[in-house]
Amino acid sequence: MLRKKENINIEGERFTFKVFRFDPATDSQPYFDHFLVIAEKGMTVLEALLNIQERQDPSLVFRYSCRGAICGSCGMVINGRPNLACRTQLSSLESREVLIEPLPNLEIIKDLIIDMKPFWKAYRLIEPWLMPRGREARGEHLVTEKNRAQIDQFVGCILCACCYGACPVVSRNEKYVGPAALAKLFRFVQDSRDKRDRKQAFKRLDNKDGLWACHTVFRCTEDCPKQVRPTDGIEGLRRRAVAVKCCGSKKEKVLKENEA
Ligand code: FES
Repeated sequence: MLRKKENINIEGERFTFKVFRFDPATDSQPYFDHFLVIAEKGMTVLEALLNIQERQDPSLVFRYSCRGAICGSCGMVINGRPNLACRTQLSSLESREVLIEPLPNLEIIKDLIIDMKPFWKAYRLIEPWLMPRGREARGEHLVTEKNRAQIDQFVGCILCACCYGACPVVSRNEKYVGPAALAKLFRFVQDSRDKRDRKQAFKRLDNKDGLWACHTVFRCTEDCPKQVRPTDGIEGLRRRAVAVKCCGSKKEKVLKENEA
């Protein structure tokens, strides 16, 4: 659980970190290690983990890079909810006991490091790049303010896989493309500069592992650390896919223009 206010002074307070450990090469079962961390001013969960790694147990492994909620590599489960370790302040936690686990729905390589291959495989499937044609393909790629606002939240996705880890559908169906990839596809089909073949793009996902797998549980939307709403993207894609299938691309164009 997170507190609303993150500016509480926690300097000198003692936090007990209960950290998931598992090395498939040597451990038959996962287990939890306990570490005591004395908080420093403005300390994040990532900094606490670095403190543990540097001063208590160098064998503990986890991913991180930017430390600024941009690269998406420090996604993990903090006190039961997927989040970015680098943007989670210790002061925002309700308890002085902090449970740290790897993201679910992906195989564990070691400790908090998960195998992202299925996530990236699903992401590649949607062809996540802009496909301009004609004039737009040659010159500047201009976009109107209105259109940019329509895709804004989806551009903000940093592919941390927190939504993928939170998704109950992925936990039951490992073939499901997942919320991040679908939300990103919505970002492209909603972009006025993108001229991909919609029929083709939707056909690839018109199945029980694609567009129609989502049960609209909203866990992805609740747990996205960047406030993206993947469920909105999935619903938008479904409307487009039905429009293209039933009425052709003209109807899809009308939907695109009206999409809030
Ligand atoms: Fe880059 Fe956390 S370290 S998002």
